[in-house]
Amino acid sequence: MADKRIGIVVGSIRKDAYTKKIADFLIENTPEGYHFEQINIAELPLYNQDYDEAGAPAAYDVFRKEVASKDGIIFITPEHNRSIPAALKNALDVASRPYGKNAWDAKPALVISSSISGISGFGANHHLRQTLTFLNMPTLQQPEVYLANVQDYFDESGKLSKKDAADFLLKALDAYLNFAAKF
Ligand SMILES: Cc1cc2nc3c(=O)[nH]c(=O)nc-3n(C[C@H](O)[C@H](O)[C@H](O)COP(=O)(O)O)c2cc1C
Repeated sequence: MADKRIGIVVGSIRKDAYTKKIADFLIENTPEGYHFEQINIAELPLYNQDYDEAGAPAAYDVFRKEVASKDGIIFITPEHNRSIPAALKNALDVASRPYGKNAWDAKPALVISSSISGISGFGANHHLRQTLTFLNMPTLQQPEVYLANVQDYFDESGKLSKKDAADFLLKALDAYLNFAAKF
């Protein structure tokens, strides 16, 4: 049987993003039977509804096809001003349209949030969950994944080295893959 394809959407477009390092950790720990890959959101022009009639930027088509090809999506997001970063909201909007062609539809999702404070991206996590409800993405409820003080998770080479965080992420990943297999 072909590997299940899981897309990873990182909410930060910053080159040294902690959220990207979390994505790298999950990709390094891809279980057998799965293929994990990051879907890049950094090159998507700002969504404009006019594109739905007048023709969209080429990057939209590539992105929508990438999303549509996945069996599930893992979102890893930081918090910007108590919500998700604009780049992530833009990506969600781009693949949700044109109307009636929502590429996210029915794809099981995992939400991971992080921050450099103790609040761990709670606001972003739940704003994202609100949008995923409208996009019709069944989303793992437990465990919730909030990563606090994420700047302390990595060694000098940028690898995740905090053992309890690594163990928890793998446990959440396992719960998500079991959940996603039901759809
Ligand atoms: C525009 C902006 C807004 C931010 N707002 C929040 C916030 O609301 N809550 C929070 O915990 N951290 C906030 N931060 C700090 C981020 O947690 C921090 O920059 C983090 O490293 C971003 O994640 P990344 O490393 O994946 O890019 C903000 C950072 C920026 C640039």
